[in-house]
Amino acid sequence: MTTTDKHHDTASAGDRNAHYESLVDPVTDWTTDFDHMHPAYNANAPEIWQQLREGCPVAHSPRYGGTWLPVSHEDVSAIAYDTEHFSSEDVVVKRIKPTGESRPYGGAPPITSDPPFHHHARRVLLPAFAPQKISAMEAETRAFCHGLIDKFGSAEVVDVADQYAKHIPPAVIAHMLDLPLEDGELFREFIHVALEGIAEDQEVRQAGWQKLDAYLDRRIAERSDNLGDDLLSFLLTAELDGNRLHPDHVRGTVALLLIAGIDTTWSAIGSSLWHFARTPSDLARLVAEPELLPVAVEEMLRAYAPVTMARTVAKDVEVGGCPMKAGDWVLLPFPAANRDPAAFDRADEVLIDREINRHTAFGLGIHRCVGSNLARMEVRIALEVFVERFPEFELADPAAVTWSVGQVRGPRSLPIRVRSRATARAK
Ligand code: HEM
Repeated sequence: MTTTDKHHDTASAGDRNAHYESLVDPVTDWTTDFDHMHPAYNANAPEIWQQLREGCPVAHSPRYGGTWLPVSHEDVSAIAYDTEHFSSEDVVVKRIKPTGESRPYGGAPPITSDPPFHHHARRVLLPAFAPQKISAMEAETRAFCHGLIDKFGSAEVVDVADQYAKHIPPAVIAHMLDLPLEDGELFREFIHVALEGIAEDQEVRQAGWQKLDAYLDRRIAERSDNLGDDLLSFLLTAELDGNRLHPDHVRGTVALLLIAGIDTTWSAIGSSLWHFARTPSDLARLVAEPELLPVAVEEMLRAYAPVTMARTVAKDVEVGGCPMKAGDWVLLPFPAANRDPAAFDRADEVLIDREINRHTAFGLGIHRCVGSNLARMEVRIALEVFVERFPEFELADPAAVTWSVGQVRGPRSLPIRVRSRATARAK
């Protein structure tokens, strides 16, 4: 892995949020008409969940053809474990609902697969994400993070969402799949289509998907003629019950890895830096007690869990006293479950030495994140290197911080004033 020179987004983060706001109707009541695609949702999510928890633990909105939003740990968990009444055929809420025709496979196995196929699709992936495979990538990831910081030069204020966090996961997954590092910018475009861009016009979305399909087809064809020991070659030669994976299966899984593995971890790294930039006592503690880092990472994942998934109701069912009808969307906000006082002591406080922390950031049940070892390694190394190089840093302009839009939550613009070890010492 080496660093790229392409660092800054052209459109400012503020412009992007104004654009997203223009795509959805205004929201005046989060309990009866919420819209997770409104930029105000992610910017204020913990407050919105708290408001819902106190009033109506399973909120409903007529948007997207009818969407439920449970916020208690109990309800989120019940739905995640109930694969009889809830399908994963499409895990991203959008205007067009899935028809049920692609069950049990879905377009991006295993995340879009239901039992019994899900089990097989998941099993294929597990060896590539085993702990020993991930620890083998640690040194390279550390060097990559140092390379990104070297590029900051002598700048005192750095947008660490844009110039640091967002580059680490694409580099790691490109390395695993043996795809060019320069394609990182394209991967982020695909993520935009799949997640942030769901409120865009249908033609814009269609063009984005076609570009992703064409990209995957090209890379898969190239690799089929030139197999190596990378993850893409592995998928091309892997077998299920004695047969190679269907080409659509390979394509869908690679698309999933590009989408599921990037802005999730980018968001987790960004939120962690946001926390330490505004909590100097926690930063000082981490500098003084570096052995606390793995425990602190778990608390970052709990408190700032980036991923909300979705299900569609497969058979009518009642949850929390609410009648859910076949075809309804259900958002599964694992981050809200992590802040439920019924499940965690001092749930809304961030305790970087929290001892008991059975958080749900990586999901619950059969779809629990396959990439959790990798994600944990990336977040830990990104923080370790950042704190080593900058033992003191703070928000440069709290008003300039902006958040992503949609089901993955994390800072997208995060200007931070940094002080290197030498400068901090000279103070
Ligand atoms: C902090 C970073 C990450 C978070 C918080 C996260 C979270 C999640 C969650 C909540 C699920 C469950 C989905 C559901 O119930 O529908 C999931 C599934 C999945 N994640 Fe992650 N993820 C992260 C990083 C990654 C990475 C780095 C990869 C791989 C490159 C990855 C690959 C997957 C896959 C393949 C699944 C589907 C598993 C299945 O359906 O059996 N994730 N992730």
